[in-house]
Parts: sequence; structure tokens; C-alpha cells
Amino acid sequence: MKARGNFASKLGIILATAGSAVGLGNVWRFPFMAGHNGGAAFIVLYFGCILLLGIPGMVSEFIIGRHSQSNAARAYYEISGGQRRWRLVGYLGILTSTIILGFYAVVAGWCLQYLFASLMGHLSGDADYVLHYFQSFSSHPWKPVLWAVAFILITHLVIVRGVQNGIERASKLLMPLLLVLLVLIVIASCSLPGAMAGVEFLLKPDFSKVSGGVLLEALGQAFFSLSLGTACLCTYASYFSRDTNLLKSAGQIAFLDTFIAILSGLMIFPAAFSVGVEPDAGPSLIFITLPNVFQQAFGHLPLLGYVIGILFYALLVFAALTSTISMHEISTAFFAEELNLQRKKAAWIETLVCILLAIGCSLSVGAVDSLTLFGQSLMDFCDMLTAQIMLPLGAFLTSLFIGWVVDQRLVHDELTNQGTVAEGLFRAYQFSVRYIVPLCILLIFLHQFGVL
Ligand code: PFF
Repeated sequence: MKARGNFASKLGIILATAGSAVGLGNVWRFPFMAGHNGGAAFIVLYFGCILLLGIPGMVSEFIIGRHSQSNAARAYYEISGGQRRWRLVGYLGILTSTIILGFYAVVAGWCLQYLFASLMGHLSGDADYVLHYFQSFSSHPWKPVLWAVAFILITHLVIVRGVQNGIERASKLLMPLLLVLLVLIVIASCSLPGAMAGVEFLLKPDFSKVSGGVLLEALGQAFFSLSLGTACLCTYASYFSRDTNLLKSAGQIAFLDTFIAILSGLMIFPAAFSVGVEPDAGPSLIFITLPNVFQQAFGHLPLLGYVIGILFYALLVFAALTSTISMHEISTAFFAEELNLQRKKAAWIETLVCILLAIGCSLSVGAVDSLTLFGQSLMDFCDMLTAQIMLPLGAFLTSLFIGWVVDQRLVHDELTNQGTVAEGLFRAYQFSVRYIVPLCILLIFLHQFGVL
């Protein structure tokens, strides 16, 4: 077996894993999910899912990955003491992350195109122009496809550079920059006329909108945003060092991830209300509200608006990139280690599969709207299938696995770093993965599918 990479520093571990968690899920998906499902009420459910199910779920994947120090499929196999059937959960994660990468790259490609368009000054015009710009770009027969493919190829380039030089370096630079810029745009957005209605929409819960479906959407969004249930965290944890405090890292990452999602909401909704875009405009929300913010908020300083626009789309691209890298890494590590391939070759397999999927997804929401599955565009279908079924299923199985199958002494030693940290929390964690996490996911599933 070839030597494996490792993250070089504690900060690198947190930032790379946070880089996986923070991405389009926070800045693009969270706002339109919240907008569609009643704003603050959705956010309350979302917090509940993060705290009760997300953090224990993250810790479980960390334990499996760090203990085994290998790709996802082998990690489940090894920590179970050699039970072959548990490899299947690893395979499920590999499949899920590949499908996600397929449709995620489409939106990431839109971001790349918007970066280019803002550089060229193509996004300036009134609200109608901006709306029309998005519609004509996204339905163009080949442009969005090319941008999506370009995005996957960029991801490929980082992946072949390896763990420390590629993933860790990129994350250390980009994550702090993202945070600073986000805060700046929140301030700009909240200072637009009529913006407070958007803030209120985010902070005042209306529980009449809550149903079983909304709960499942909140659960799916929480898992999607934490990169949970895809074996991504398990793969990254295989590069953690032995003294990484798993519980603390999970808490820090979940906090940062949620904070950025809320900031994104505060960036989008005040602007949407100010320019009169419906908060439930769907996936195009950030592409039609933000160009307006950059122009209106900085109307008297157009150059500043121009620069902030460019920086914003650049950071969106980087945030997406640190996430696509993590999705890609799951399969690259798997193919390299299981098929004994060079990292480069292994990466190509994943890249080609994802390119094919991305082409299909992109066309399904653009030029070929007959590309549907079960009445939805291929893109929406992949999103729904992964977020609402595959991710919760992955987390459900992982929880049962770590709670009931894996040797509990080993779980204890990994969680507490051989009894040196978080000793008092072991029982609570064990109770949560044995009962709370699987039961809650099961109940939400049963309710959604009409059994309860
Ligand atoms: N967590 C990422 C985001 O919020 O954009 C998306 C993601 C990354 C999902 C990695 C799944 C994954 F394995």
C-alpha cells in the first residue's frame, strides 16, 4: 500500500473540513430552502437537526475514518472487525457524493460564469435585465454545460496535487476570505431600502408552514450542509492526526457552517425584499437578487459595487471548490486504494463519471427540458434523491453501525483519544447514536412517506 497523505496542522484539519461543509449548500441552497419553507420556522427545525443529529453523525464518521485511516468502503469494513456487508455503507457514500458532485457542478459552473460576467461588467442593468440575463444564460444550449465541465476539471487539478498541497493550502487561504466578504455584503444588503422585511422574514417563525415534508427538507439540508452521510467526513478524518479532538472539531465545524448559512440568509433576503423578488424564487435566488445589491447598495460608488460583485462570485466559486474537492476525494481515495491505481488515474475515473452526470443535469434545467425523472428535471431529481433519501439513509446506517456493531471500547477510545478528552460525554454520545439519531431519522422518513 502506498503512503497516505495527512493534513499537516490542526488548523488545516478544521479549515479543510469546514471547507467541505461550507459551500453552495450554505450560500445557495440554504437561502432558497428557507425561503421556500417559511423562513424562520424552517431555520428553527434546521438548528434542531444540526444539534441533535448532525453533530453526533459527524463524530461517528470521524471515528470510523480516523480509526481505519483508509478510504470509506475499507474503513467501514475494518472497524467492524472484517464484516464485508458493512462495506456497502461506504459504497453508498461513494455513490451519493458522485451524484451530488454531478448536479453541484452545474450550479458551481453558473457561479463561474457569473464571476466572468461580473468581471466583464455584464451584470449591470435594472432588475428586469438581471432576471432576463439569468434565464437566457441558464437555458442556453451549451454555455452552462461548458462551465460545469470546466468546474469539474478545476476540481480534478486540485485533487491530483494531493492532500496537503492541494486541499489544505486552498482551504487555509479561502475560508477566512469568504467570511470577511460575506459580512461586508450582509451590511450592504441590510442597508438597502425596505431591507428590514427580509430580516424579519428570517427571524420571525411562522409555524403554520411546518409539515412532515418541511422537516425532511430541514434534515436533508442539515446533512447536505455538513457533508454528512456521504462518507466525506469519514474520508477526511482518515487524514486526521491521532490527537485531533473529534467532538470539539465537529462542534466547531457545525457552528461555523451554521453561522455562514445564517449570514447568507441575511445577505439574500433583505436584498430580495428590497428589489421585490419573491423569497421562494428557488434555485435562481442568488443569481437574480445579488447583482441588484451590488448595483443599488453601491449606486453612488459604482466602482466599489463592481469590485465587491467580482469578489463575491470569486468567493462563491472558491467555497464551491473546497466542497467539490471533498466530494471528489471520496472516490479518488477509494479507486486509488482499492484498485491500486495511481492517484491521477483514480481521479480521472471520478472526473469522467461526474462530467457525464453534470452534462445531463445541466441540460435538464436548460436546453433539454424533457430530461426528467419522476416528473422532475434530472437535476432536481438528483438533488431530492440525495438530500432527502441517500444522505439520511447513510447517516441512519452509520449511526446504527457505530452504536451497535462496532466494538464500544474502540468507539470510546477514539472519541476520547484514549481517555484524555471528552470522557464525560461518551455515554451521551453513545445514547445518541444508539437511539436518538436512528429513531429521529426513521420517524421523519415514516412520516414523510405517509406511514405515520
Ligand atoms: N456541504 C457542502 C455544501 O454545503 O455546499 C456540500 C457537500 C460537500 C455535500 C461534500 C456532500 C459532500 F460529500
